[in-house]
Amino acid sequence: GAPVEVNIGKAEPGQLIRVEWRGQPVWVVRRTPEMLASLEGLADQLRDPNSEQPQQPEYAENLYRSRKKEYFVAVGICTHLGCSPQYLQNDFAEQVEGVDAGFFCPCHGSRFDIAGRVFEGVPAPYNLVVPPHYYINENTILVG
Ligand code: FES
Repeated sequence: GAPVEVNIGKAEPGQLIRVEWRGQPVWVVRRTPEMLASLEGLADQLRDPNSEQPQQPEYAENLYRSRKKEYFVAVGICTHLGCSPQYLQNDFAEQVEGVDAGFFCPCHGSRFDIAGRVFEGVPAPYNLVVPPHYYINENTILVG
């Protein structure tokens, strides 16, 4: 499939933009400073906090799982059986106490943080997949 351009120039803090790449949903989330801060204290609740399973390109091997920490790019498909998780911006705390935003898969209850890292105790075996992505310029990401 051809790479897909995503215009992030008008993305509001907290906004999720959906595009399609190779027949799959891909998300770009403009993360707020609060969301980024929330990633720091979660390690002991996560199955693979350092993303040692290869679910991202090398340049996304960092806490934020992205090239630029403000923007999270992920394939929007649960790593359990392929449902599309919901983005919960303010009500994720109902899923994980003390964490405001993340992704929740309604099919069998898998939970992921705002870097797509899977929580312990849910069926999804791996973190969400980060697809290859590049910045063409400040306002445009190329996925693929
Ligand atoms: Fe997401 Fe099963 S498909 S939890």
